[in-house]
Amino acid sequence: MDHASIRQSTHGRHLQILVVGSGGREHALVWKLLQSPRVVQVYCAPGNAGTSLGDPTQGGPRPSGIDGRASNLAIEAHDVTGIVSAALRLDIDLVVIGPEAPLAAGLADALIDAGVRVFGPQLAPAQLEYSKAFSKQFMVRHHIPTAAAAIVSDAESARAWLRQNPGPVVVKASGLAAGKGVVVCDTTDEALAAVSALMVERVHGDAGATLLLEERLEGEEVSILAFCDGWVAAPMPPAQDHKRAYDGDKGPNTGGMGAYAPAPCVDEALMRRIDAEVLQPTLAGMRAEGYPFIGVLFAGLMLTAKGPKVLEYNCRFGDPETEALMLLLESDLPEILLACAEGRLVPDQLQWRAGSAVVVVLAAPGYPGSYPKGAEITGLDAASADPSVAVFHAGTRRVGAEIVTAGGRVLAVGAHAEDLARARDGAYRACDRIAFSGKQLRRDIGLRGLGPPSMAQRRD
Ligand code: AMP
Ligand code: GLY
Repeated sequence: MDHASIRQSTHGRHLQILVVGSGGREHALVWKLLQSPRVVQVYCAPGNAGTSLGDPTQGGPRPSGIDGRASNLAIEAHDVTGIVSAALRLDIDLVVIGPEAPLAAGLADALIDAGVRVFGPQLAPAQLEYSKAFSKQFMVRHHIPTAAAAIVSDAESARAWLRQNPGPVVVKASGLAAGKGVVVCDTTDEALAAVSALMVERVHGDAGATLLLEERLEGEEVSILAFCDGWVAAPMPPAQDHKRAYDGDKGPNTGGMGAYAPAPCVDEALMRRIDAEVLQPTLAGMRAEGYPFIGVLFAGLMLTAKGPKVLEYNCRFGDPETEALMLLLESDLPEILLACAEGRLVPDQLQWRAGSAVVVVLAAPGYPGSYPKGAEITGLDAASADPSVAVFHAGTRRVGAEIVTAGGRVLAVGAHAEDLARARDGAYRACDRIAFSGKQLRRDIGLRGLGPPSMAQRRD
């Protein structure tokens, strides 16, 4: 079976949708899906305390934007058989895949084989994310701007290459390593140590069996996400993530401590350039190689003095970028996702709200290292009383009438306003109303967007 065989129309039908995942991204998707009058039910597998109302007899805080149409399924995101059988049993019209692990486990392929409509790429196109070696070679084949890199599969060749090419370099594990397989090095000694850790000691397992030794680029980083139907890409507003744990981009890398959109470092002219040089060639290249890309294509770009270059592709909604982007999306989300799954996306029809959205992550103490779980979270209803605020749950769990911490990134607190400064104020006001033991957050989310123009903006 392929996508085309599942094309019996969903036109005018009431929709039952299954969202796979359990983070802030998935709460934001459920929140936006429920805004559509066509949606009668949204399941989240496994979801979190924000993606269902829980047991109404117990009471407790009401998650942002959630009503009786939302419920959780106790199925893990990587449980391909469990998700497929739930989708069939519940007569799901569309499955939306959040995280990368189920994509790399072939969930989209299994759903399509079972005749279930899916938003998310199949195994072959998802290689753009789960194999950095594949994606680098793909970019070279299709003349998509990216950092020059050597691909090596034994430590001796890696060391020889590093000795012949001294200076700043980035060492990357080719496989999925939960965002931890990239080491940005100042010196050859650091790069040699990274080769030992990733390839010899295999600190991230087989992800380090093949390495990329990559030219180190300088510039501002930006996340460009686009809805794709296999033929065309409809870009979302440019977003910026904040990957380091502490203010001023200090400290260890995390899954993302906050995001905002639109990022002013990408103006309309640069967006057109990114569309023409990166997004459309990626879709055309995938199609030409026999792998139409359906889902979100997420290009992590560096805006260098020589123009935008791709650092990595992700094949899914970013987290926390998605929380900010859903606050900006005006159009009906289920209609866009179905149009992608059914190969009939019209990019110009996407509508976005004016103004800016800011999302601040509240993390557990110690994150991204080890952290405690089970701390009571208070102030959720007070924080989300402001209509311009949405408190998206990530690592949370319901215990009776309480909501407690259950992960490293606990909440993603978002606000929309007419400009970035006001959106920041709204998000931080809401953050300050929420309390849990050891609450950790960055205070500088979105500040970059208020600062002086970057080098990249001043390019010719
Ligand atoms: P990746 O997972 O490939 O996006 O890499 C994670 C982070 O490492 C990126 O967000 C960048 O901050 C940094 N990085 C990756 N590739 C490069 C590069 N070629 N030059 C400089 N920094 C990079
Ligand atoms: N925010 C980056 C990611 O989702 O990978």
